[in-house]
Amino acid sequence: MNNITQLVLLCRPGFEKECAGEIMDYATNLGFPAYIQTKPDTGYVLLIGTGEPNIGELVSQLDFKQLIFTRQWFASLAKVDDLPEQNRIAPLITTIKSLDEDFNDIELAYPDTNDGKSLSRFCKQFKPHLLTALKKQKLLSAHSNQRLHILFLDSKQAFVGASPIDNSAQIAMGIPRLRMPSSAPSRSTLKLEEAIHWFIEDESKVIKNGMSAVDLGAAPGGWSWQLVQRGLLVTAIDNGPMEDKLMRGGMVEHYKTDAFTYRPKKTVDWLVCDMAERPSLVSKLIAKWFTREDCHNAIFNLKLPMKKRLQEVNECLSLIHQQLNEANITHQIQAKHLYHDREEITVCIISN
Ligand SMILES: C[S@@+](CC[C@H](N)C(=O)[O-])C[C@H]1O[C@@H](n2cnc3c(N)ncnc32)[C@H](O)[C@@H]1O
Repeated sequence: MNNITQLVLLCRPGFEKECAGEIMDYATNLGFPAYIQTKPDTGYVLLIGTGEPNIGELVSQLDFKQLIFTRQWFASLAKVDDLPEQNRIAPLITTIKSLDEDFNDIELAYPDTNDGKSLSRFCKQFKPHLLTALKKQKLLSAHSNQRLHILFLDSKQAFVGASPIDNSAQIAMGIPRLRMPSSAPSRSTLKLEEAIHWFIEDESKVIKNGMSAVDLGAAPGGWSWQLVQRGLLVTAIDNGPMEDKLMRGGMVEHYKTDAFTYRPKKTVDWLVCDMAERPSLVSKLIAKWFTREDCHNAIFNLKLPMKKRLQEVNECLSLIHQQLNEANITHQIQAKHLYHDREEITVCIISN
């Protein structure tokens, strides 16, 4: 893919600045000359390469999982404009051929904006036609590790490109389709469910029957419910009420007390925390749970301030990292602006 000129990155609308700031930092640190092109609330960012090494190579040098604010990415050619309504396939195939690749999979996408969502049906209808044309041109191969991406901005304009299947989001546009469980006490439950899917590769090894957990800021119990579904015994900390049905199940113990002063009697397997508190305070609290050996692993979120969100995230993550390192705790820390997160990100720490 020599003629790649840019990376296209999808994000939650309103978070283009954070998505751009993050990828630009990586590009600079890894020696890729580039600049950003983006507009607020469009749901995507362009990183445009200006020299060698070709910006397309950044996708093979940077682990996609390290990106917090990017939902999906691909290396792309310049935008295709003026796709004719009667035959979009022909110009798209010409552009796709110039990528000089074959593909294992295809993803037709649109920005996660109101205008973008109106393209959902168009993409669904267009996909089988494109697949037929790709097959005819012998551009599909089960041995390829590349996914073809077409991001439509409207039915006439699109970015065409590719990403490595093993270094990009496995779900279309990085958006998981989770169904709200009817017996869960709150919609927040989906945040923890998405977090577990995203961060934990082999769930059966890490979150399992008989483990213990503390849920800080637990009421009414959506996160506790997720843990109970996996067979964990949960201590819920919140001054507010927990849902009766969840409590009747006998797997949750509830203490009406302050999450900043509560301490478990024994080390727990999991700490989870979903409190609307200052991110720096939550970060210090979480670090303390690890350094005092009160927990082995944690999933929590950091509510983001309106301004300097990326800076705040970086400061919080380095504080935790530093405190755990000083305490000689071997750990992996990952963070993501999940689809179900709004003005917050979710962090997962696994210690060995
Ligand atoms: C967003 S809600 C949690 C929702 C919950 N995760 C669920 O899935 O149902 C935040 C909760 O944090 C609790 N909270 C905030 N500060 C707290 C503190 N210092 N101690 C204990 N609970 C606190 C609030 O009472 C509130 O119930």
